[in-house]
Amino acid sequence: MQLLFLVLVALIRCKSGIPVSGGWELNGHLALEEEDQCTVDRRANLTYTEFIHQYAFSRPVILQRFTNNSLFQDLCSKEKLLAEFGGFRIRLSTANTYSYQKVDLSFQEYVEQLLQPQDPNSLGNDTLYFFGDNNFTEWGRLFQYYSPPPFHLLGTTAAYSFGIAGAGSGVPFHWHGPGYSEVIFGRKRWFLYPPEKRPDFHPNKTTLAWLRDTYPALPITERPLQCTVQAGEVLYFPDRWWHATLNLDTSVFISTFLGLGQQDPPGQG
Ligand SMILES: *[C@@H]1O[C@H](CO)[C@@H](O)[C@H](O)[C@H]1NC(C)=O
Ligand SMILES: *[C@@H]1O[C@H](CO)[C@@H](O)[C@H](O)[C@H]1NC(C)=O
Ligand SMILES: *[C@@H]1O[C@H](CO)[C@@H](O)[C@H](O)[C@H]1NC(C)=O
Ligand SMILES: *[C@@H]1O[C@H](CO)[C@@H](O)[C@H](O)[C@H]1NC(C)=O
Ligand SMILES: *[C@@H]1O[C@H](CO)[C@@H](O)[C@H](O)[C@H]1NC(C)=O
Repeated sequence: MQLLFLVLVALIRCKSGIPVSGGWELNGHLALEEEDQCTVDRRANLTYTEFIHQYAFSRPVILQRFTNNSLFQDLCSKEKLLAEFGGFRIRLSTANTYSYQKVDLSFQEYVEQLLQPQDPNSLGNDTLYFFGDNNFTEWGRLFQYYSPPPFHLLGTTAAYSFGIAGAGSGVPFHWHGPGYSEVIFGRKRWFLYPPEKRPDFHPNKTTLAWLRDTYPALPITERPLQCTVQAGEVLYFPDRWWHATLNLDTSVFISTFLGLGQQDPPGQG
């Protein structure tokens, strides 16, 4: 009787489809004690003028329901991406700061062999991460369906970086130019510090190790801004803000880097 009940609950959960995972969530997820804590503004109503005055050059913000990427999300299901891009070669980077190593393999090999939950005892420089370095000739036919956030910064051009990574993975603290990061499937937790406040971190340790070893000892005033970005939300990060990311689920995500003139997007985000 109890078994039947469990099966039913599983079926109902599947049917109601919450949260939507596109077939990516088979690897489980990471539960954090402070998961609901959010110290980044979340705005569902924001004009361009308000964005420029309150956020663009001064602090991060999470935009809710500014874009409708339901079609793009549909194209990013595990089944559809494997069917469309499985045979293409992708370039992975190590998940550390400063000295990225690159490894090439097929998208299918990555999904089937490497897309695993993060081993908490691995180092970032031993962890391979798929984000950026996209071959636009190949991935362009997917990116054409992505609607980027509507707010532009004068004099910048937008460049996309697309990735998929396992639960518990992420990139340790680093910085670059301004831009947006949208979660398509899964959840991504962000930790951010203003440019003048360089955080204490080891460049070869994972974000997960930093959260376990360094974060708990930080006085409240030394803690980063942080928030979990849900599927369909977009985080804006201003120029040169330090940030580290942690995927709480197997996550599909895309960044829009706002570069000055023609330049390659940063390899990692
Ligand atoms: C905010 O935007 C939503 C739609 O995204 C709208 O329904 C709501 O009325 C708006 N709220 C305010 C205070 O403007
Ligand atoms: C988003 O767009 C799809 C079509 O691509 C439409 O079916 C859906 O209703 C839209 N959702 C919202 C919240 O506007
Ligand atoms: C990774 O970084 C650690 C600590 O900085 C170093 O000891 C180790 O040799 C590095 N591993 C690789 C594969 O480069
Ligand atoms: C981090 O690892 C790289 C190789 O993966 C190594 O060259 C570098 O020295 C390491 N950095 C530190 C601070 O240990
Ligand atoms: C990008 O993909 C195209 C089409 O498959 C291929 O011809 C080209 O060599 C690739 N570019 C790089 C830098 O791998």
